[in-house]
Amino acid sequence: MNATATSYPRNKIKILLLENISDAAVAELETGGYHEISRLGGALSEAELIEAVKGVHLIGIRSKTHISRAVIDAADKLLAIGAFCIGVNQIDLQAATEKGVAVFNAPYSNTRSVAELVIGLCVMLIRKIADKNAAAHRGEWLKEAKGSYELRGKTLGIIGYGNIGSQVSIMAEAMGMQVVYFDIAIKLPHGNAKQIRELSDLLEQSDIVTLHVPSNATTRNMMNAETLHKMRKGSILINYSRGDVVDLEALKTAIDEGQIVGAAVDVFPLEPEKNGDPFETVLQNLPNVILTPHIGGSTEEAQANIGLDVTSKLIKYLEFGTSEGSHTVPPVSLPPQAGTHRILHIHQNIPGVLGEINSRLSARGINIVGQYLKTNETIGYVILDIDSALSKDAFEILKDIDGTIKTRMIY
Ligand code: NAI
Repeated sequence: MNATATSYPRNKIKILLLENISDAAVAELETGGYHEISRLGGALSEAELIEAVKGVHLIGIRSKTHISRAVIDAADKLLAIGAFCIGVNQIDLQAATEKGVAVFNAPYSNTRSVAELVIGLCVMLIRKIADKNAAAHRGEWLKEAKGSYELRGKTLGIIGYGNIGSQVSIMAEAMGMQVVYFDIAIKLPHGNAKQIRELSDLLEQSDIVTLHVPSNATTRNMMNAETLHKMRKGSILINYSRGDVVDLEALKTAIDEGQIVGAAVDVFPLEPEKNGDPFETVLQNLPNVILTPHIGGSTEEAQANIGLDVTSKLIKYLEFGTSEGSHTVPPVSLPPQAGTHRILHIHQNIPGVLGEINSRLSARGINIVGQYLKTNETIGYVILDIDSALSKDAFEILKDIDGTIKTRMIY
């Protein structure tokens, strides 16, 4: 399959992009030959979306557009939704699954942005820059070395050694730190980092602890009065993960007591909806505490990476049926075969569909060159590579199979 050989002319693919999706994404789509692109600056209401999605094959959104079941029902041609952001909870994933609409996002595009900032914060906090900066702005000269340290030789404890945690690990070692990490899964270390089996051991050994875990039942308030007191007296805590991972009242108490002497927090249990809305936290006005408005991953580079990542997933899904990374259509990836046409069949996950496909194709004497099936609880997704001479017949048969939700042919 190349840029010119396609059963679905790219100029007939209608794309709707909302919420100022990056120019990098649009450029990537245009390079791929997709020019039927409508761009809107903001989000749309449900009623507006219901009108706007008619006839659209791809829709791109960010976090403010809610794609409800009613919107998905109204989207008569929709093949995929690109969430040009980290989360997908603004989309009714069950409705999208039932309709066989693939949903892609870019969960790891801002890894580097968070990791770099965490290293910067380690330096700022261990040198008490927040207080010295505030004093200088007030006209006070706070020159002193007491209580300020280098990072070199200190121990960084990383909780959650996934994409961000492991990237922080590499950079922290480059700063001369020793790195220990705690993760519920066994994770291979980068450099000389060491995995610690007990959280309490990590807390006891670390001068700075940084959290990079998801929000779930195992992480909720994992830093609480008890765990904060397991940390070294005079240590530092950074939370750039999720707002419910640290008990902020307990952190305030630990700071008031001098147990913790510095903290950086970017994520909060309750965050304002938009810029300008009031924001309150018990951590305000505490010494050597750096508060930021959930900007850990917010950089120009991350936005551009998100654009490229989601766009390439959408194009691969359109042109090859590759659904890896989709939250709805089961993940299938199969290299295209020469001399074949590819049929993509999404069906309800009911027993016997694959058997029915195979027996009806073989009854018609149609040979399957390549086949791959994956299912989830709701739907099954099968990719079939069929001899190009017989693909039209095969396509007609597949459209007719009981339980069919969507059938596409690509060549
Ligand atoms: P990831 O999924 O790559 O890594 C998470 C790691 O935490 C995994 O290795 C997992 O095994 C581990 N983990 C899960 N439960 C655990 C537990 N109870 N104890 C110890 N380890 C546990 O995630 P990634 O991309 O590294 O992101 C980490 C966090 O950072 C996420 O919560 C994400 O939402 C947040 N984040 C925040 C941003 C911001 O702007 N502040 C930007 C990007 C991500």
